[in-house]
Amino acid sequence: MQLNDRECVAFLQWCLPHLQMTWNGFRKVRRQVCKRIKRRLVYLDIKSLNSYQQYLMDTPSEWLALDNMMRINISRFYRDKGVFSNIVDWVFPDLVQQFSGQTDKFCCWSIGCGSGEEVFSILILWEEFLKRNPSIGISLNVIGTSTDPSTLERARQGVYSMGSIKEIPQKTVNSAFIKENDEFRIKIGYKQKATFLLQDIRKKMLPGTFHIIFCRNLIFTYFDTILQEKLLNKLLKQLLPGGFLIIGKHECLPGGISSLQKLSSCIFKKLKD
Ligand SMILES: C[S@@+](CC[C@H](N)C(=O)[O-])C[C@H]1O[C@@H](n2cnc3c(N)ncnc32)[C@H](O)[C@@H]1O
Repeated sequence: MQLNDRECVAFLQWCLPHLQMTWNGFRKVRRQVCKRIKRRLVYLDIKSLNSYQQYLMDTPSEWLALDNMMRINISRFYRDKGVFSNIVDWVFPDLVQQFSGQTDKFCCWSIGCGSGEEVFSILILWEEFLKRNPSIGISLNVIGTSTDPSTLERARQGVYSMGSIKEIPQKTVNSAFIKENDEFRIKIGYKQKATFLLQDIRKKMLPGTFHIIFCRNLIFTYFDTILQEKLLNKLLKQLLPGGFLIIGKHECLPGGISSLQKLSSCIFKKLKD
């Protein structure tokens, strides 16, 4: 069956608002979404997007299948390197200064954690930070959540291709991974500090509070403004005063948030009351 870009774009512009998502976020990644939609049409034996549109209107359960087709899983270790440098230079020392003597464990949440690349990036950097600052007796635990069972399984396995780890300095690759043929397995010590959970951020929050929340390349890229505002307000309740919210390089927070201090375009600190 034929599905050209123009038709697919028009379809996405129609359906995304129904899913509380925004076309802008999908502009660059639409080809992979269009491919999935085309496969779905073949599977359902539906001949055109107009007919699929009608099918969606007649079949409420199909919206869930469409929602799943909108999941973008692109990630890599140290994605947007500068952000991770700023975390090491500003966020880690600041947290240590604020919370030393009050806690022996920092908690971090990575929302939309891909295959664990962000989770293990932060754990690797914390380990290196501890090596340079051996008197800090604080461990870091990271929870990664996502709606994609297969990428979560990959995260639990912790095995990556060269392409995923290409931003990591070779010395760190040698110390944090075990090479297995053409792939790289994250060492067990990091795995023990990482937990991966299947969870839809639109439906459920994690219990507890966090020193760092990563929310990159999900809510503030793909969801519409109303949903962004609603979720941000919920997230802020789970960020400890003095804790840090990290967003993606190409993202902005919805306006009107007075409880955050902007340290860079991607790093925000929650003010104390
Ligand atoms: C583009 S990736 C971003 C990965 C990583 N945060 C990064 O910036 O490299 C988006 C991630 O969000 C997950 N995701 C999509 N919809 C979600 C939802 N409603 N709740 C939680 N995770 C979701 C995807 O499965 C994927 O892991």
